[in-house]
Amino acid sequence: MPKILLTGAGGQLGSVLIPYLREKYGIENVIATDLKPLKNASGPSDVLDVLDYEGVKSIIQKYEIDQIYHLAAILSAKGEQDPRFTWKVNMDGLLNILEISRELGIEKVFNPSSIAVFGSKTQKENTPQNPILIPETIYGMSKEAGENWTNYYYQKYGLDVRSIRYPGLIGYNSLPGGGTTDYAVEIFHDAINKGKYTCFLNSDTVLPMMYMQDAMRATVELMEAPIEDIKIRTSYNLAAMSFSPEQIFLEIKKYLPKFKIKYKADFRDEIAKSWVESVDDSAARKDWGWKETYDLPRMVKDMIYNLRIEPHSSSD
Ligand code: NAD
Ligand code: SER
Repeated sequence: MPKILLTGAGGQLGSVLIPYLREKYGIENVIATDLKPLKNASGPSDVLDVLDYEGVKSIIQKYEIDQIYHLAAILSAKGEQDPRFTWKVNMDGLLNILEISRELGIEKVFNPSSIAVFGSKTQKENTPQNPILIPETIYGMSKEAGENWTNYYYQKYGLDVRSIRYPGLIGYNSLPGGGTTDYAVEIFHDAINKGKYTCFLNSDTVLPMMYMQDAMRATVELMEAPIEDIKIRTSYNLAAMSFSPEQIFLEIKKYLPKFKIKYKADFRDEIAKSWVESVDDSAARKDWGWKETYDLPRMVKDMIYNLRIEPHSSSD
């Protein structure tokens, strides 16, 4: 069994990947880290700031790590509040992970990228794997630069770094952490807890999205694929569904008929409009067999079922 380190494990993705990986590889083999001690860690965990080079190195040595899932980052909307700090966390954090992985001979690294690498010059529908990439947020700029760095470490040093350009991720295990696609998580909490939601995107802003269950499975399938199947070392396009706020609202309304929505678009709508509406993920399907299992109706049904069983706090 590989020994796996997760950075930024307290976030949306980490909080579901930890139990998923522990189920697969054993509780003791998955070490969850974040800036602060993790609540309900349910296994080995530690405090780790990815900007602390020596700290990262000593955690890897302490737990004899073989693989790293580097999730720590500042997301798109929050990133715009402090661009230089966002660049520092997202870039220096990644470079620390890559360089230490090279130095210590880490077997595999996962580095998540995002649809935020696309910009308004990118083809909006069925966006190809290698389109024009001129991102318009500092988050997107850091992810796009990160893709080139991971490709460089693979080409130059043979470091086995793998990556996915996640669409917006939707899950019920935790509240979102400062992203633009987070409206599609908040809307469920407010629908269930308050019966109404004020959306920060316009009603017709379409974005690519993915249910967390599919995202977790894609991540582990990519990491477990034979090395010769991984043909793209920047980051794979990945798709599951695309919808607008009005479309998800209407789907939720099928379960909560009294649910109401208002639209009060802010700067996040501009960010969303600079991204794309749907992506062509045929390379992921061909190279390592990606296939989604959740579309919009199935995802909404599952979200509502799970949030009703285990209510979480609302978005404010
Ligand atoms: P999140 O904001 O929920 O979690 C990020 C975590 O990183 C937080 O727990 C935070 O405390 C931690 N962190 C921040 N600075 C750190 C530092 N210096 N050292 C250590 N930890 C630090 O984000 P998420 O949704 O879980 O995203 C995980 C990864 O997936 C990120 O790289 C993100 O860019 C990527 N991603 C997420 C989405 C999405 O929709 N959630 C979409 C595309 C890509
Ligand atoms: N979903 C993320 C965000 O909105 C993009 O990676 O910031």
